[in-house]
Amino acid sequence: MIQNSAKQNTVKQNSMKNINSNTNRQIESLIGQLTLDEKIAMIHGSELFRTGAVPRLGIPALVFSDGPMGVRQDFRPDGWTSADGSKKPTSYLPSGSALAATWDPDIIEMAGLVLGEETRARGKDVILGPSLNIKRTPLCGRNFEYMSEDPLLAGTAASAMIRGIQSAGTAACPKHFALNSQETERLWVNVEIDDRALYEIYLPAFRAALEEGGALTLMGSYNLYRGQHLCESRNLTEKVVRNEWNWDGLIVSDWGGTHHAVPAGLGPLDVDMSVTPDFDDYPMAEPLKAAVKAGKVPESAVDLKISHILKLMLRLGKIALDSNEDGETTVSKGIRPAGSLNTPQHQMLLLEAAREAVVLLKNEGSILPVEPGSCERILVVGAGADRTHSNGGGSAEVAALYEITPLDGLRNILGGACQVDWLPGCEAGADKAQDASWQEKSLETSEGRDRSVDEATKLRRKELREAAAAAAADYDRVIFIGGLDHDYDLEGQDRDSIELPYGQDELICALLDANPNTAVILVSGSPVSMEAWADRAKAVVWCSYAGMEGGNALAEVLTGEVDPSGKLPETFPRSLEETPAAVFGDFPGRPLTDAEHARMDAHLTQTYREGIFVGYRYYDRFDAPVRFSFGHGLSYTDFEYLEASTMTGPDGLPTSLRVTVKNTGGRPGTEIVQVYAGKASPDEEDPVRELAAFGRIELYPGETGSITLKIPAAAFMQFDPKAHAFVRTVPDHILSIGSSSRDIRLSIPVSAEADKIHNTNGEENV
Ligand code: BGC
Repeated sequence: MIQNSAKQNTVKQNSMKNINSNTNRQIESLIGQLTLDEKIAMIHGSELFRTGAVPRLGIPALVFSDGPMGVRQDFRPDGWTSADGSKKPTSYLPSGSALAATWDPDIIEMAGLVLGEETRARGKDVILGPSLNIKRTPLCGRNFEYMSEDPLLAGTAASAMIRGIQSAGTAACPKHFALNSQETERLWVNVEIDDRALYEIYLPAFRAALEEGGALTLMGSYNLYRGQHLCESRNLTEKVVRNEWNWDGLIVSDWGGTHHAVPAGLGPLDVDMSVTPDFDDYPMAEPLKAAVKAGKVPESAVDLKISHILKLMLRLGKIALDSNEDGETTVSKGIRPAGSLNTPQHQMLLLEAAREAVVLLKNEGSILPVEPGSCERILVVGAGADRTHSNGGGSAEVAALYEITPLDGLRNILGGACQVDWLPGCEAGADKAQDASWQEKSLETSEGRDRSVDEATKLRRKELREAAAAAAADYDRVIFIGGLDHDYDLEGQDRDSIELPYGQDELICALLDANPNTAVILVSGSPVSMEAWADRAKAVVWCSYAGMEGGNALAEVLTGEVDPSGKLPETFPRSLEETPAAVFGDFPGRPLTDAEHARMDAHLTQTYREGIFVGYRYYDRFDAPVRFSFGHGLSYTDFEYLEASTMTGPDGLPTSLRVTVKNTGGRPGTEIVQVYAGKASPDEEDPVRELAAFGRIELYPGETGSITLKIPAAAFMQFDPKAHAFVRTVPDHILSIGSSSRDIRLSIPVSAEADKIHNTNGEENV
C-alpha cells in the first residue's frame, strides 16, 4: 500500500545499497561455484521475459515486464500469446509525454510508485521503463512514450519516476540507451553525432536516470553509434556508462538488439533478450559459450556480467548471501515487500497525474471552462472523444482495468446539469488489436502503413462532417475532441507527416464555421500541425495519452473543476519543414557510403547535423516561428512575475533563485516557473537559452508568493570536446525567468566574477 512508509524506507535502502567488499568477496565465491553452462543460462533469455535460473545454487531467474504505461500482459514462455488466456488487467498510467507535461517530479514519482507496486504484485523484478529518448523530430513513432526535447526536463521526470518505481522494490530500466530517436530502421540505423550534442543533449537524461534516479538497470538501444550497435558498444555504452559514469548496474539489451557473440561478450552488456523463442541461438547463449571455449572471450568477461546480475538481485532484496562452514557462499531468499494491484489509491494518484498533464494552449474570450449550469446543451464532436488508447502503441500496450474516455468524463461531470450529445464527425482508425506477432516481425521491417484514402472513405467522412457541422450551429457550446491514436503514435514506425489524420482539419474548420465558440481538444503523443485552423479557434487544449483516468481529468479541466497547469514538454511547430531535423538533417537517414558499408552492419546512416539545436534551442537561436513554444501552457487565471533575485555561491555563480509571482486573476491556479540560462553574448554555435530550473507555485486569487529554485552549476557550463569535459567558458550569463521559453518575464545578468546578488530592478542587493 502506498501509505506504508516503513516498507518504502526498507526498499529505498535496498535500492541504494552499495555493495561492500565483503559482499563482493561473497559474489566472487558464488561465481566460482558456477559452471560455464550455468553462467551462460543466467545471461540470456530462457523465455521472452525471463532469464535462466540456477536451482542447484538457489539463484532465481530475473523476470522482466513492459512497461512503462502499466504492467503488460504475461506471455507464454515461447511466444507472443497471453500466458493463461487472460491479459491480467492493471492500472494504465499516463504516457511519458503526459507525465512530462506536468513538470511535477512529485506526482511523477507517485505514478512511478504505482507502477512499481503493480510490477511487484505481478511477481516481476524489472519494469522496462521509463522511456526517455530525446524527442529529436516530431515524427518519431515512440514520442508518446518519451518525455521531452529538453534533457533537463526529461532527466528530472525520468529520475522522479525511477525513484517511485524502485521505492516499491521493483527495478526500473530506463530505455533506450542511446540516440534511439527514430523508429525507421530502428535496428539498423547508424547515428553520427558530434560530441557536444551527444554530451549536452542526448546523454544527460540517462545520466540523471542512473545517478539521481538511482536506476538499477539500463536498456541498450537497437541502433548503432559510429558503427557499433549500442548493445555491443564499447565506444559509447562501455566508455560512458561503465567508465565515465562508473555505474555497476545491470545492462540488458533491447529485445533483439544483440547481433554478435564476441563483441557482446566482451562489451558492457549483461543480459541478452530477444523476441524469438530460439533461446539457445541468442548471441550470448550457445554462440558466446563457443567463443569462450575458443578463447575469443575470456570467461572473466562473463563473470563480470554475472556479478552485475547478482548485485541487482541483492539490491532488490531478491536474494540474500551467506557463507557455509567451508567458507562457500550460499544463497537464500531475500526480504522484499509485497506489491499491490488495481487499488483505489493507485487510481486516485493516476487521476491526479492526469489532471496536471492537461495543457491549455489558447483561450481567447475565456470560452473555457464550460461550467456545469452555464449552458443547456453541449455537442461533443470527434471520434477521439469516444476512443480508448490503452491497448495500442506497441510494447507499451496495457490491458487497462478500465479507461475513461473524454466523452465518459464529460458526461460524468455534466450529466444532469446539461444535455451532452456526441457525434463522431469523422471516422478514426479502427480500434484494432495488433497482430500477436508484430513484435517479432518488427525486427524485420519498419515500413509505414498505407495511409491512402479511397473515394468511399472520403464520401463517408464528408457525410459525417456535414452532419456534425449542421448540428453544431444549434448547440450552446461545441467541444471537438480528436488528435492522434496508436495507429500513428506507434512503436516500430515513424509518422510521415505532422498533419492531423482522418480529415480532422476539414472537420474542425467546418465546426468553427458553424459555431465559432468551438473549443478544440487534441489528444496525441506528439505534435500535430494546427495551421489550418489555429488562428480561428478561440480555445485549444492538448494532452497526451493520460491513462485510465485521462477522460475524467480532461473533463475536470474543461469544466473548470480543476485549473489547467500543464506545460508543453516539447515545441509544437507550424510545419514539419520548419523543424530542426528537417532543416539541417537527413531524417530518416541516407543509404550508407561504400566506406561505411565496409566497416559496419547497418542499413542507413543518420547524421544529427542540427547538433545541439534540438527543439526550442533551434527555434530560439534562429528566431524561427512556432505555433506553441516549449514550456507554454495557460491557466484560467493570470500570473504576474514581480521580482527575482539570486543567491550566489563562493565562486560568484548563482546557486539559487527566488522568484515572486502574483495571481492577478480571479481563480486559484498553479504556475510553473521556468528559469533559462544562456551566455550574455552567445556565439553562433551556442543556444540562446537553456532550461536550468523549474518549479510549481500554487496561488489563490490576489495572492503573492515566492518560490526558490536551485540553479545547478551545469547551467553555466558547456561540453568542450577537446578537453572531453564540461567547462565554464565565459563569465557573463543571463538568467531568463518566465512562463515558457518564449514568454520571458524577468532577466538577471550573472557574472562569475561578481560575488554580489542582483535583482531584476538592476540594483545590487548586498
Ligand atoms: C522495445 C522495448 C521493449 C521490448 C520488450 C522492444 O521492441 O523497443 O522498449 O521493452 O521490446 O517488449
